[in-house]
Amino acid sequence: MDKLIIRGGKKLAGDVTVSGSKNAALPIFVSTILAPGAHEIRNVPFLRDINTTIKVLESLGAEVEGNGNIVRIDTSRLSGHEATYDLVKTMRASVLVLGPLLARFGKARVSLPGGCAIGARPINLHLKGLEAMGAEITLEHGYVAAKARRLKGARINFDISTVGGTEHLMMAAATAKGETILENAAREPEIPELAEVLNKMGAKIEGAGTDTVRITGVDELQPVTHSVMPDRIEAGTFMTAAAITGGDVRIHNMRPDHLDALIFKLQDAGVEIAHKENVLRVKGPRRVRSINIKTRPYPGFPTDMQAQMMALMTVAEGTSVISENIFENRFMHVSELLRFGADIIIEGNTATVKGVKSLSGAPVMATDLRASASLILAGLAADNTTEVSRIYHLDRGYEFIEKKLAALGADIQRVKE
Ligand code: EPU
Repeated sequence: MDKLIIRGGKKLAGDVTVSGSKNAALPIFVSTILAPGAHEIRNVPFLRDINTTIKVLESLGAEVEGNGNIVRIDTSRLSGHEATYDLVKTMRASVLVLGPLLARFGKARVSLPGGCAIGARPINLHLKGLEAMGAEITLEHGYVAAKARRLKGARINFDISTVGGTEHLMMAAATAKGETILENAAREPEIPELAEVLNKMGAKIEGAGTDTVRITGVDELQPVTHSVMPDRIEAGTFMTAAAITGGDVRIHNMRPDHLDALIFKLQDAGVEIAHKENVLRVKGPRRVRSINIKTRPYPGFPTDMQAQMMALMTVAEGTSVISENIFENRFMHVSELLRFGADIIIEGNTATVKGVKSLSGAPVMATDLRASASLILAGLAADNTTEVSRIYHLDRGYEFIEKKLAALGADIQRVKE
């Protein structure tokens, strides 16, 4: 197993380019099931979760070929309609194949994902939506089995904002008979991105990115070529890395409009942010000011930036209150941040972070993807050496992160444990 060795205290400086978005690429890959033929997806990040999605598609009979950041997926001759426990347990997003398989073959069998480090993460709203569209769903031996001659349009009102649920039902509805209306839909940027891909395939989707999405089902879809949008959370992580090291970093290939909530918060904390000609320049102050954060569905503050922002707040001037409102157990990084000498108290879904003058490097363990990123940020700011183990979590979602940070002047190395 690999680990990262970080010798902290270096101010990051220079230029970094953001990779394609993991959370946009995953549903886009899955959507190719709906349109038999040869697709070409560009700006795909090299990540473990992308490999898992490729394995899922290959297990269904797709032919997949990668060349740099371009992936060609041929879904002409799919033979299977089942996603096994082995694949779904390594990546929950694999459950998104259920709706597209059902739409294409009239039947599908997908393992239930089970628990996750950051919360229970049920898929009840996905299943309820598919049922409203006429699917017959049964749960057997840990698997969801679904059948439907042809899905039909329905009006679906989500109890809570769900990114995966919105994406899943948008895909299922694309070739359903009649109109589907998704109300209280999630508005995260990955959703209009998926709608754009589906519309390129010939789907009729309006309103993606707002809380009401209308999908008029079409009989068939065509393969596409598409370049994946930049990863807003990777960009946000580099912004926070610049802030925590008092650095001066120019971030290329990012969409600042996807990160308004983070930009406002960082500016409140005293970070200078300037946007010019598609480059975002982020300059950290000597010491940031404390700010309060509440995670919310988009366009609110993203839960996927909560851990990184908490790392920043551990060294802020003053006390910060951070509440996590999306996942019930997304404070796993706190006990590791304490090992750096941070002062954090958790009560329910709220963490009170009293800024300390400096962090001291320590051996720590990553527990999930964004927690891993927060430990790297703390290590960059801490004195002495930090060792982050179990970084396989990190490889699920950050492309070449240690290389990108090293190019900005960080002293960071990957070694075999
Ligand atoms: N929920 C339900 N029932 C459902 C679906 C969701 O109760 O049927 C709950 C979840 O348990 C959670 C809340 O609704 O408490 C929001 O979950 P959502 O469905 O929006 O999350 P997701 O689609 O499973 C995606 C990202 C996550 C990101 C969340 C929230 C992907 C592959 N994953 O998950 O990304 O945190 O949206 O923005 O897109 C990450 O990249 O580190 C990550 C965890």
